[in-house]
Amino acid sequence: MTKNDEDNISPRVIAISSGKGGVGKTFFSIHLAVKAVRQGLRVLLLDADLGMANVDVMLGISGRGSVKQVLAGRSSLSEVLIHAKQGFDVLPGGSGFAELSALSSNQQQILMDEMREAAKDYDLVLIDTAAGIGDNVLFFVASAESSLVVLTPDPTSLTDAYALIKVLSQQRDVHRFMVLVNQVDAFEGELTFRRLMSVADRYLDVQLDYVGCMPSSKDVQRAVQHQQLLEHGEAYKALDATLKTVLSRPRDDSRQGGLQFFWEHSLGQSLSEEQTVGVPV
Ligand SMILES: Nc1ncnc2c1ncn2[C@@H]1O[C@H](COP(=O)(O)OP(=O)(O)OP(=O)(O)O)[C@@H](O)[C@H]1O
Ligand SMILES: [Mg+2]
Repeated sequence: MTKNDEDNISPRVIAISSGKGGVGKTFFSIHLAVKAVRQGLRVLLLDADLGMANVDVMLGISGRGSVKQVLAGRSSLSEVLIHAKQGFDVLPGGSGFAELSALSSNQQQILMDEMREAAKDYDLVLIDTAAGIGDNVLFFVASAESSLVVLTPDPTSLTDAYALIKVLSQQRDVHRFMVLVNQVDAFEGELTFRRLMSVADRYLDVQLDYVGCMPSSKDVQRAVQHQQLLEHGEAYKALDATLKTVLSRPRDDSRQGGLQFFWEHSLGQSLSEEQTVGVPV
């Protein structure tokens, strides 16, 4: 990936999502951000599990606001960004705001407008979504250039990942997915991926791209508990290889890339679905 320079190459946008919750999305998002920073990229991480703070809690940081203030028109996005000491910026999703759990099309529009403006300063935008197939999740994933789905070998996680991929492909025209399996060794990771792929190949019009796995490890739990990064050990090695794979994947030309797409696509979606009026096109 090249730097997003003054020629205004649009930033790459990756949404990280899952069918079932608690599978490691936020952990991976943060470590992906760190890895990208170490490769020299300017990174923005959006905590898109709105109303349920994830990223700021895991990093042990707090700021002056969140998406809530942005949506209320009280702050611009740049005013509520937090610069994490790990070298990337975080847009907090806020905590305890039930009203953010299902954005209206107008709110989606405001957020996209602000994101589009802010994204000019970055090479990579990561969107850590909530779990499941709620409208916010579908909106954020469909608005990104690339989608990364995280799952564990747990049958419910596998089934829910399939459900998410199915809904995204059939309702939001997302057909390419990177897949990351957590809490497995290399063998079980491949096996889990093949299980998912065998069903998806049979019933869905999708391309799945296995990017790697990470074993279950006390080191991960310890890192999360102490609000620290995972930096050493076997789990780290697997994590690092997986993140490297994600970052080395080519950009997705079929989705035109970056927030230009992010913006236009989202706008089209909102307008056609709810016939929103008064939105500048
Ligand atoms: N490989 C692993 N080994 C051990 N524990 C893990 C591993 N991956 C994740 N965990 C644990 O799982 C928990 C959930 O991780 P995380 O918050 O990143 O998941 P999430 O998918 O973002 O959850 P949510 O759906 O609630 O947003 C963490 O507390 C972490 O300790
Ligand atoms: Mg999370």
